[in-house]
Amino acid sequence: MTSTFLLIGHLILLIPLFSAEECIVCDYFVLVGEPTAISCPVITLPALHSDYNMTWYKNGSNTPITTEKHARIHVRKGLLWFIPATLEDSGLYECEVRGLNRSNQKTINLKVFKNDNGLCFNGKMKYEQVVNSANIGNIICPDLENFKDEDNVKPEVHWYKECKPGFLEDKRFVLAEGENAVLIHNVSVQDKGNYTCRMVYTYMGKQYNVSRTMSLVVKESPLQMRPEFIYPKNNTIEVELGSHVVMECNVSSGINSLIPYWEVNDGYVDDFDSTYREQFYEKGMPHGITVAGTKFNISKVKVKDYAYKFFCHFIYESQQFTSYIKLEPPAQNIQGYLIGGGVSLVFLVFVTLIIYKIFKIDIVLWYRNSCHPFLGEKASDGKIYDAYVLYPKNRESCLYSSDIFALKILPEVLERQCGYNLFIFGRNDLPGEDMVSVADETLKQSRRLMIILASETPSCLLEDACEQQLAMYNALIRDGTQVILIEMDEILDYTSMPESVRYIKQKHGAIQWKGDVSEKSCSANTKFWKNVRYQMPSKKKMSHSEIYLLHQTLNSSTTKGN
Ligand SMILES: *[C@@H]1O[C@H](CO)[C@@H](O)[C@H](O)[C@H]1NC(C)=O
Ligand SMILES: *[C@@H]1O[C@H](CO)[C@@H](O)[C@H](O)[C@H]1NC(C)=O
Ligand SMILES: *[C@@H]1O[C@H](CO)[C@@H](O)[C@H](O)[C@H]1NC(C)=O
Ligand SMILES: *[C@@H]1O[C@H](CO)[C@@H](O)[C@H](O)[C@H]1NC(C)=O
Ligand SMILES: *[C@@H]1O[C@H](CO)[C@@H](O)[C@H](O)[C@H]1NC(C)=O
Ligand SMILES: *[C@@H]1O[C@H](CO)[C@@H](O)[C@H](O)[C@H]1NC(C)=O
Ligand SMILES: *[C@@H]1O[C@H](CO)[C@@H](O)[C@H](O)[C@H]1NC(C)=O
Ligand SMILES: *[C@@H]1O[C@H](CO)[C@@H](O)[C@H](O)[C@H]1NC(C)=O
Ligand SMILES: *[C@@H]1O[C@H](CO)[C@@H](O)[C@H](O)[C@H]1NC(C)=O
Repeated sequence: MTSTFLLIGHLILLIPLFSAEECIVCDYFVLVGEPTAISCPVITLPALHSDYNMTWYKNGSNTPITTEKHARIHVRKGLLWFIPATLEDSGLYECEVRGLNRSNQKTINLKVFKNDNGLCFNGKMKYEQVVNSANIGNIICPDLENFKDEDNVKPEVHWYKECKPGFLEDKRFVLAEGENAVLIHNVSVQDKGNYTCRMVYTYMGKQYNVSRTMSLVVKESPLQMRPEFIYPKNNTIEVELGSHVVMECNVSSGINSLIPYWEVNDGYVDDFDSTYREQFYEKGMPHGITVAGTKFNISKVKVKDYAYKFFCHFIYESQQFTSYIKLEPPAQNIQGYLIGGGVSLVFLVFVTLIIYKIFKIDIVLWYRNSCHPFLGEKASDGKIYDAYVLYPKNRESCLYSSDIFALKILPEVLERQCGYNLFIFGRNDLPGEDMVSVADETLKQSRRLMIILASETPSCLLEDACEQQLAMYNALIRDGTQVILIEMDEILDYTSMPESVRYIKQKHGAIQWKGDVSEKSCSANTKFWKNVRYQMPSKKKMSHSEIYLLHQTLNSSTTKGN
């Protein structure tokens, strides 16, 4: 096991650079027709430094392989030689090493390959070599130590790229004589590929080819990139007490010997809490970038973890770089509040709407009462009456309830209590006046038209001048004058009513009078009157004398008009 100890500050990290080389059955490869020499892997054990005898066996055989130099397969200088290898030689071989006191043995697996179709090599037995682009790189023809010529003359090595000679004509490629290597200047990505080197080995007067094929990988040169933290970036994260957090620190760089490490409370995190167990890792990324990282687990966040910043450091060009992360307990659940708030807001709006729907009339009336004085006098619309009251006036002597309502109750509530100014047909008009022209004139001076309907209402509201009246209502409705329809009792049959009345009923509805005409006192605060007042124009309370004065003025002006 080969390990590298790296010392950074006070931090010692154990990084395995190679995987264990001890194979249970070690594999060896050779091309058919080529010679090969196999060493026993056990030989490297230090205990065997002194005197030992080595014996090779073919799998399953008790007879040691000969040391006779002329044999195609023989043992020489502790190596097992195949000169040359044949396809049948594939299989297991054992080497036994016997020292004075102890012995050891190992099995190896020899694989004899044929060239791939049309190629000078077999793709399964390539040596991978890596060079960086834009740099000087080299291709090495490996494992030729055992094939020195008998006269110890350096063998001549021929080179091929994709099995074709001639690539050395490119000036960037320089043959490094004696080193069995080719130097490449200004390596470019196009230089990647399969390079084959071949030498001729002469043994016992016969010549054999020994070839090696290298797969050259060209890595794009690392950008001249300053290492920087990917994470953390001096940030805070919210974690709940007792939760599991993986604390990760990542640095990206163009070099691959950067080692970030964590510190907290001026010490290593493992000293702070032995359960943290910091781990280093490194990962190659495309374009020559390396991500170096270090992480540890906080399996259960404790209160002490909230108290310190966790610093991640790395050293680059003898300068220390630092970034930290701070753990914090989660803030109050804002989302919950928002949802709760939203729901209650919707609910509040809903309730408000319902309340408004139910108490709309009271609210409007209250508003008119309480706010009117502050609103100041509205610009006058030039109208004298708040409402023009029309009711089924009976010519007979007996009084109907509608007469009582229109002449007694209505003025009592709307005029006396609420200060409205009404024109009641049959009360305000002077006898002898031309009914139609008075009505016409007065209606134009009124803000509302109030029609009182009773089940005994004759088919025409006013027997006289019926046609003209209807024409006038129609015009008014078209003008936009608001109409207040009051039903004295439930009127089931509207079909007998004039067209315009039916239209109003349908469009604006009607207010039903459910009271009793014989009642002594009427209050403006009953539901019925509130409804009526709601439909009446907004009005500041007037004293009775003012109303009387108004009547006088109007009456005289109408008289003059005639
Ligand atoms: C090696 O073999 C030779 C000859 O068989 C023998 O004399 C010698 O003692 C052996 N050496 C060891 C270390 O076994
Ligand atoms: C190795 O020898 C054993 C026992 O003689 C035999 O069962 C096995 O098949 C052999 N393996 C190979 C790869 O020759
Ligand atoms: C080999 O064994 C002898 C006697 O059994 C002992 O004295 C000697 O130390 C041993 N040598 C090794 C290398 O173990
Ligand atoms: C390598 O590239 C540099 C600049 O691009 C050039 O000056 C130099 O001659 C090149 N070397 C070879 C051997 O082509
Ligand atoms: C190298 O050889 C393999 C076959 O072993 C082939 O697939 C590949 O394309 C070759 N590489 C190049 C760059 O030609
Ligand atoms: C060695 O390989 C070359 C090229 O493939 C071939 O021409 C030559 O005959 C081979 N030599 C032997 C001894 O196999
Ligand atoms: C750190 O880098 C590794 C490897 O690229 C990646 O898997 C991991 O998600 C990165 N972590 C953070 C926090 O960026
Ligand atoms: C850290 O936690 C992750 C995810 O739970 C787990 O896979 C990993 O093994 C843990 N590492 C250590 C060192 O405990
Ligand atoms: C993060 O904090 C460290 C130490 O507090 C400081 O040296 C570093 O400059 C900060 N980095 C950034 C990006 O703010």
